[in-house]
Amino acid sequence: MTEARQEVSLGMPQLPAPAYPAEVRARLEADAKEVIARYPDSRSALLPLLHLVQSEEGYVSRTGMALCAELLGLTTAEVTAVATFYTMYRRRPSGDYQVGVCTNTLCAVMGGDAIFDRLKQHLGLGNNETTEDGKVTLEHIECNAACDFAPVVMVNWEFFDNQTPESATQLVDDLIAGRTVEPTRGAPLCSYKETARILAGFPDQRPGAVEATGGAGPASLVGLRLAKGEELHPKVVAPRGESARSEAPQDRPQPGAQHLSSHDAPQQTSASDPDHPAGPAAEEGE
Ligand code: FES
Repeated sequence: MTEARQEVSLGMPQLPAPAYPAEVRARLEADAKEVIARYPDSRSALLPLLHLVQSEEGYVSRTGMALCAELLGLTTAEVTAVATFYTMYRRRPSGDYQVGVCTNTLCAVMGGDAIFDRLKQHLGLGNNETTEDGKVTLEHIECNAACDFAPVVMVNWEFFDNQTPESATQLVDDLIAGRTVEPTRGAPLCSYKETARILAGFPDQRPGAVEATGGAGPASLVGLRLAKGEELHPKVVAPRGESARSEAPQDRPQPGAQHLSSHDAPQQTSASDPDHPAGPAAEEGE
């Protein structure tokens, strides 16, 4: 049962959300007005404002949602509906480092499930639980469009690519011990609250952070390069035993010429199984 449903099913009137201390409220309100001014319709600022209040307490509290509702002229029910829909908003206090293990299809089969099981056992945590020292919250996450680096672990939404159960265990041990860890690509790691403030749309002031954000891999960038009109010359995967062919213009087959791709060519079952080449299945009785 989700937290939102729990609140409704209690059937009791909610007490007003506790107020922020005056200094915190004044600071958040000034930041929120800066965010709201970026949009022609103030309610469009709800998503960044939820990140902003998350940057204060590390999660979206009832106090934070009440502030969003007040500043945007929305009901708390409208704000709650959004905050409980998106998994990037946390609804309870959590760790300094959110360790997310991708267990979507590709990462799962490449080892994501094994990593998640190992970390649960190593940390003594279940999904969405936090270590007693408040350092690490473990959760399984959905695909983060980094499948070419599977299996992927994310810490506060920074990528740690091609992980193994051993490397992921070392990663959480380093985080808990306060040792510096470097994401595989992208910006340097920062705390969950700092990450939330960046997601609210405030510039990342850390030295080198902006330069470090261009971390997409070659396979991820093919579509972007095609969209920019760049002519790509993919190398055709050759049938076993043949060398790969170039697809550069001068090497392309002439009109009318037979064009074999790796799918057209006869395949063999395995180089290690020469006695059983692939081919049409023999009819029974042949
Ligand atoms: S399945 Fe893990 S990043 Fe896509």
